Amino acid sequence: MPGAGLILAIESSCDETAAAIVQRGSHTLSSIVASQISTHARYGGVVPELASREHLRAIVPVVRAALAQASITLADLDAIAVTSGPGLAGALLVGITYAKALAFATSLPLIAVNHLEGHIHAVLLNEHETELSKPQVSEARSFDKLRTGGHTHLYLARPTSGAWHYSLVGRTLDDAAGEAYDKVAKLLGLGYPGGPWIDALAKHGNPHAVPFAFSQIKTKLHLAGKAPRTKAAKTAPIANLDTHFLFSFSGIKTAVLRYVELHDLRPEAESRREALFTGPDAPARPTLEDALATCSQATLDLIASFQHAVIGDLMKKTFAAAEFLAARRILVTGGVAANRELRARFTAEATRRDLRVSFPTLALSTDNAAMIAAAAWPRFLNEEFAQSDLSADPSLALGA
Ligand code: KG4
Ligand code: ZN
Repeated sequence: MPGAGLILAIESSCDETAAAIVQRGSHTLSSIVASQISTHARYGGVVPELASREHLRAIVPVVRAALAQASITLADLDAIAVTSGPGLAGALLVGITYAKALAFATSLPLIAVNHLEGHIHAVLLNEHETELSKPQVSEARSFDKLRTGGHTHLYLARPTSGAWHYSLVGRTLDDAAGEAYDKVAKLLGLGYPGGPWIDALAKHGNPHAVPFAFSQIKTKLHLAGKAPRTKAAKTAPIANLDTHFLFSFSGIKTAVLRYVELHDLRPEAESRREALFTGPDAPARPTLEDALATCSQATLDLIASFQHAVIGDLMKKTFAAAEFLAARRILVTGGVAANRELRARFTAEATRRDLRVSFPTLALSTDNAAMIAAAAWPRFLNEEFAQSDLSADPSLALGA
């Protein structure tokens, strides 16, 4: 079915090898994700060399599976999209090289997609699919949006004449929120990625047990309700940003480390790592129950307090930015957006402020290729194709 608007997208920026077939950026025919979690779990983070090797191993079967699940062949495609950055150089290169070879062999156009733009489109893709299944849709799609996630950026996103325009309005000065989750999990002897472990264990602890504090740089500009809502403020370069929208997550990691040392929780963390991952009796796939059985109440309270503080800070700055920019709605996306407490608290605060907040489904929160195909669709329509010398850009920026 040539001309049906079928895009094959490939994503390999970090530790998931993913391929998807999406029609017209809004209808997912298939989405395959091969996770490398079991490869990296014992190291407490992604090992770049291992990631590239695993991508090499997985890329061909994953793309084949995406085509098979969609019941199409390469001849049915209209374009091939691929994540070109940001991410791990070697990991990105595997996807890019394979996508280029496929595009060359099939004479199809190649579309380069920014991974962060993909995460934004994960939310929009969900909405398209829900809307498609509704008999009547009249909702306007020209609204302002903000995004926060694994990389921890706040973007103002605006649809302009078929394409999307992004302005960076906030970011982290050091670690991303997801990185803080991963590092704290590693410190506590939990697996990688840390987010899901901390998410699940936090509900067994007291979130107010340890009062973690985030420092806030005050500026005169932003006093509640008195922020200017000018056009210039919406497009301000990062140097001119209100410091209220700058995050910093390296401090809380150090605070957790101090707490662990002060309360002598390190031996417990070491034996947890052994019991769950490195010891001779470690289970092949440790479960939440396995982890819970190794945690003292002090550790559970620490985990709950850490999560409560991180989400509180993400919320405070995101809602402040939304108010400052007079954004009509907030999109929260990326791996951290899968967090249950984050979803509940963002939703409650949005309701209180009469704002709309949206998240992708859990499957689309973490890395996948369907979001890359969705982000590629406006570029396909605008014929924004990549050249044959496309290469990986590990620090590719999005917007101004
Ligand atoms: O979207 P992603 O791959 O990162 C970027 O594109 O930057 O998200 C990965 C991050 C990891 O740090 C992981 O720990 C975190 O998302 N994550 C979570 C949860 N699930 C994944 N963080 C908190 N709660 C979760 N349920
Ligand atoms: Zn991601």
